[in-house]
Amino acid sequence: MPHKQPYTAIPRFYDLLDLPFEYGRYRPIRRVMFKDVDGVILDAGVGTGRNMAFYPPDAEITGIDLSPAMLARARQRKATLSIDTDLFEMDVTDTDFADGQFDFIIATFLFCVLEDEYQLPALKELRRVCKADGEIRILEYAYSKNSWRRFVMHLWAPWVRLMYGATFERRTEQYVDAAGLILAEERFLYKDIIKLLILRRQ
Ligand SMILES: C[S@@+](CC[C@H](N)C(=O)[O-])C[C@H]1O[C@@H](n2cnc3c(N)ncnc32)[C@H](O)[C@@H]1O
Repeated sequence: MPHKQPYTAIPRFYDLLDLPFEYGRYRPIRRVMFKDVDGVILDAGVGTGRNMAFYPPDAEITGIDLSPAMLARARQRKATLSIDTDLFEMDVTDTDFADGQFDFIIATFLFCVLEDEYQLPALKELRRVCKADGEIRILEYAYSKNSWRRFVMHLWAPWVRLMYGATFERRTEQYVDAAGLILAEERFLYKDIIKLLILRRQ
């Protein structure tokens, strides 16, 4: 499947650009994403490895990303934090993993980057590699219902699209059923703009 690859220029600046958000809002959220997570874990769209500081110490964790430049940053972070994790260049819509390989799959800010036509293929692939009793946790942005916050988000949207290839208006939930998954839980972790989706196999 041909794939748009937006993350070639940004990796050098990614952590710097994201710094205010990382420390202002993301870090407590990342902790929640890895709460009670153990066993064999996939960090899908690992990016520069921002989740690594929250990986459970005894888990077996694999990170994948489409961007070699983001993975290079992730490898540096892995070395700095002395984390034992495997990192591979892979497309989330078409991975090399075996069926039912993972207990938990974590995807933070991946689905807001995936174009609409890749949402269902990505969910189907994550379902395939997730164990029958496993769990998929997705973190993504949504437009606020608060009119001021929504207005500010609309001002930011072109920049976010340009720099990250992301939008605030992905509707990942609408593909869940077609992917053979159920939406076990949906809740906001930051105001009404960053939400957690917990998916399980049907
Ligand atoms: C906004 S970043 C989020 C990175 C990281 N998960 C985080 O929380 O900071 C999105 C990442 O998804 C990766 N990505 C985009 N499309 C992908 C795909 N089809 N398969 C795997 N990774 C992909 C990008 O290269 C980028 O590193």
